[in-house]
Amino acid sequence: MKVLLLNGSPHRNGTTFRALKEIIIELHKEGIETELLQVGMHVIRGCKACGMCKKSELGKCIFGDDPVNVAITKMKECDGLIVGSPVHYAGAAGDITSFMDRMFYASGGFPYKPGAAVVACRRAGATAALEQLNKYFMMNNMPLVPSAYWNMLHGHNGEEAEQDQEGLMVMRTLARNMAWMLKSIEAGKAAGLALPPDESHIRTNFVRDLPAQTAAGQDTDKDASEYKDFAPYFTSYNKVNKAYQEDE
Ligand SMILES: Cc1cc2nc3c(=O)[nH]c(=O)nc-3n(C[C@H](O)[C@H](O)[C@H](O)COP(=O)(O)O)c2cc1C
Repeated sequence: MKVLLLNGSPHRNGTTFRALKEIIIELHKEGIETELLQVGMHVIRGCKACGMCKKSELGKCIFGDDPVNVAITKMKECDGLIVGSPVHYAGAAGDITSFMDRMFYASGGFPYKPGAAVVACRRAGATAALEQLNKYFMMNNMPLVPSAYWNMLHGHNGEEAEQDQEGLMVMRTLARNMAWMLKSIEAGKAAGLALPPDESHIRTNFVRDLPAQTAAGQDTDKDASEYKDFAPYFTSYNKVNKAYQEDE
């Protein structure tokens, strides 16, 4: 069993990393493998709503010049996902927000794989950031992993955060709960417990019916020329920075 962790901080060894490190150590004690992807170091563009991920049925983002698609591919072999972010203006950091938007929109999420968010802040805004990140899991059939208190670590940097012993306890508890959920799901599978039946997704865009649209919400008759603004990027999926295409 394996968990993918995303560090949305631009600081490789900052407060967010300190929280994730505590989780990683505890997961290893529980026999769970981990992989950490440093996201916040990169420039991550926002979702351009071009719809190419749906239209082409790639299940990936058309923009290949950052690690969004790497994370999507890694999730195929991972059983759980933990995202960490520093609090920036009482929300998650900009890059990890863009990353999560594109990761979840392009892939359609990772149903029935447990997820959790943790945030790091100096003083305030942590609950808002946590709530923001939890929503990616909650609207994608991903069980939310709980802890004993708030999933947040306080400090201005990794060293200061060392003093937040309660925050670190919360991280360790979160890790043990993640391990427990993964093992429970595995035991359920072994006992023949099937996943809940899936109902085909109904989209009503707040009361209007959408007969002319696909389930993904893209106009079926949209002419390719409508995507011309994005044309310079279409080749990026295969050509741009091979470092981010390791899954190919
Ligand atoms: C642009 C920016 C905005 C910030 N906004 C907040 C905030 O709203 N509340 C807060 O407590 N700390 C805020 N901080 C401080 C960081 O959340 C804090 O230093 C945190 O420990 C950084 O985590 P990191 O080392 O993982 O990047 C902000 C920092 C930056 C750079």
